[in-house]
Amino acid sequence: MAEQRTSIHGQWSSRLMFIMAATGSAVGLGNIWKFPYITGENGGGAFVLVYLACIALVGIPIMMSEVLIGRRGRQSPINTMRTLAYEESRHGFWQIVGWGGVVAGFLIISYYSVIAGWALAYVFRAASGMFIGVTGDSAGSMFSHLVADPERLLAWHTIFMVMTTVVVARGVHSGLEKAVQYLMPMLFLLLLVLVGYAMTTGSFEQGLRFLFEPDFSAITAGGVLLAMGQAFFTLSLGMGAIMMYGSYLPKEASIAKTSIIIAGLDTLVALLAGMAIFPIVFANGLEAGEGPGLIFQTLPIAFGQMKGGVLFATLFFVLLVVAAWTSGISLLEPAVAWLVENRGWQRVRGATVVGVVGWALGIITIMSFSGWAFSFEFAGKTKSNGLFDMLDILTASIMLPLGGLAMAVFAGYFMSRESTVDELGMGDRFSYKLWRFVARYITPVAVILVFLHAIGVV
Ligand code: PFF
Repeated sequence: MAEQRTSIHGQWSSRLMFIMAATGSAVGLGNIWKFPYITGENGGGAFVLVYLACIALVGIPIMMSEVLIGRRGRQSPINTMRTLAYEESRHGFWQIVGWGGVVAGFLIISYYSVIAGWALAYVFRAASGMFIGVTGDSAGSMFSHLVADPERLLAWHTIFMVMTTVVVARGVHSGLEKAVQYLMPMLFLLLLVLVGYAMTTGSFEQGLRFLFEPDFSAITAGGVLLAMGQAFFTLSLGMGAIMMYGSYLPKEASIAKTSIIIAGLDTLVALLAGMAIFPIVFANGLEAGEGPGLIFQTLPIAFGQMKGGVLFATLFFVLLVVAAWTSGISLLEPAVAWLVENRGWQRVRGATVVGVVGWALGIITIMSFSGWAFSFEFAGKTKSNGLFDMLDILTASIMLPLGGLAMAVFAGYFMSRESTVDELGMGDRFSYKLWRFVARYITPVAVILVFLHAIGVV
């Protein structure tokens, strides 16, 4: 029965390790690179408010659903969904949720690794003192030179993909746990240093007002969809990464508490990144709506003026790479676990095959910033990096919310009350009733409404 099931891939050594690993998955480029740039493109405060509402109303309940499904199934998302559907006497079709997640994982890692490659490139620029005395203009041209050079991007992307594949190949204990233990707290500290610097720019207040003062006229239907997509993306929800990590969670750990802690830490990191970046943007006359290059064009200015800037800058980009690394791992893990379970492959072989596919797809993103670039309109904004922007919209705004919706519906309607009571382990108390109510009514309605709103139906 479900109670005795164990994962063939291993188990986290403690609840804390799960929190670290899941936070490692959640905190990544989504918080430090993506959150500031899409907030900047979508007018600031009102976008942030919608994003925070999505984290609380949709994100946390879906995270609980995803972890509970994962821990009950204790396999890769595809096999977990199949097993639980069978156990709950439901149609085997539910495994489509796992398949959709694997596809989303490949698409996301393909661009994620390219952007992580930018961060890698910036480690070396930082260390060699290239940021000293940099201005808004020179930071801009440094960035555009990098992204216009496909060979260079390919080299960094390859290095990041190899790093990620190696950790996944080593498995839960020796690979994943080690990477997150010390490095996440360091990243957090460095963000605080940057916020400290932002306070000295003279534009701190303006930055805070931009982030936290909602101008509701700036919000559009497309903006709401982006904010919801960002909530899924930043929490790693809807594609099975968190389900996979939940499958390694010891039975005694509380799913509700851990989910709230993970979402809270993730949100804190995103807000700190925003508080560090926007004051620099305003103090240097830069554009908040700059797009994907935003942090690469703002942070070098800050580091270039700071005492000890070379050291801090180098450390910062190293830690950004690490944050991306611990997220990249979780993007590959579900597909690798499936290959191990169903094909009987060694992890090393599975990780290599998955890594090579993700790597090859990365070429689409690399070329989107030079040879294959084209523009299109989305949600009232001009997107100028064609296929990269499309991949981003398809995964974050469509596939992840749909996947998360399906998981909430499965846990809320298709699993028996006994199963979910047992797995959440909080008895039939108010907190359980609240989760079930939100998973059954609030989350699905919210996701569907946002979709309908975005396509102009409501
Ligand atoms: N949550 C990661 C970030 O914010 O950078 C990105 C991510 C990782 C998304 C894993 C989805 C996922 F399954």
